Amino acid sequence: MQVNGTPFRSIWLAADRPEVLVIDQTLLPFAFEARTLTTSSETALAIREMVVRGAPLIGATAACGLFLAAVSDASEPNLRRAYQELLSSRPTAVNLRWALDRMLPLLLQVSESERADRARELAQQICDEDVATNSAIGDHGLALISEAANACPHRPVNILTHCNAGWLATVDWGTALAPIFKAHNQGISVHVWVDETRPRNQGASLTAWELGAHGVPHTVIADNAGGHLMQHGEVDLCIVGSDRTTRAGDVCNKIGTYLKALAAHDNGIPFYAALPSSTIDWTISDGVRDIPIEERAEEEVSYICGRDSEADRLVRVRIIPDGSSAANPAFDVTPRKLVDGIITERGVAKACEDDLVALFPQDAEVQKI
Ligand code: MRU
Repeated sequence: MQVNGTPFRSIWLAADRPEVLVIDQTLLPFAFEARTLTTSSETALAIREMVVRGAPLIGATAACGLFLAAVSDASEPNLRRAYQELLSSRPTAVNLRWALDRMLPLLLQVSESERADRARELAQQICDEDVATNSAIGDHGLALISEAANACPHRPVNILTHCNAGWLATVDWGTALAPIFKAHNQGISVHVWVDETRPRNQGASLTAWELGAHGVPHTVIADNAGGHLMQHGEVDLCIVGSDRTTRAGDVCNKIGTYLKALAAHDNGIPFYAALPSSTIDWTISDGVRDIPIEERAEEEVSYICGRDSEADRLVRVRIIPDGSSAANPAFDVTPRKLVDGIITERGVAKACEDDLVALFPQDAEVQKI
């Protein structure tokens, strides 16, 4: 996507040296800066500390981390060490495992001296494919938005989204935001309700920034406002991303997604999850039981960060009483019965095993357990 007229991806490999560059998402929306990663350990830390985040981007970053490992020491023990270190950097998004599992066996098939070049090729391929995949998700989701626009020709289509499933969460385009960018590019009038997405506020800081930079009309809302807006006819459809979706169609996404799906269901509003097939965990069916939910630090709940505009600096302030504890589950699972459709790179599936397997028969078969 363009930032101030310059095309950017959220991650890229330096052309002439073994370095990976990422946009530091901990600084947005107040600063747009790239950070350089030179080792697999630095890469794992960048994922852990959410310098990069979002399921598809985590996968692409891990792939680049394995490339950096292969540059420094391409021996099998070192690649396996880096694999484990990267894999353990965040537990919920399955794209991480998907990318590493795609690369490691192929690297081990070639001689040690060829591994760094092969790793670079594969990491680049994973990044490029992600862009094409998300663009295709955008095209399929666009059809849904066009349909909604035809039903309300005299006003914008109001779309609610949660967290950030935009281009920053992927290599480019985004998942949930890809159809919105494409609709806007085609002149369809859209307006996006952006859930702030406590505790880390990826909606308020990243989604709002992305939409603003692209000129898409949007309004940031407190996470609790969505149900009320739905009751009053202010939401036409919801589109969210996913960190892991089961083969049966249960959708795990940022904490709070489930509550939006419940409210949408109660109000008869279509609720879609947009995700690449790399987000589908073909080994599990029951999302509530089987998806590992990341527990993050209490401080993300008990403190909030923002810019003190008078002092023009970032500040972090405590918002709960001293002595109160806080819990911070980072994701929840929306059961398939609340999901009206899953927008993938191959089309829109019903949230059920038959439809998902029909779209991705080979992936489903290979990983069936
Ligand atoms: O904790 P995060 O910011 O990595 O969580 C991100 C989300 O929940 C996104 O909605 C999800 O990864 C989909 S990304 C296209």
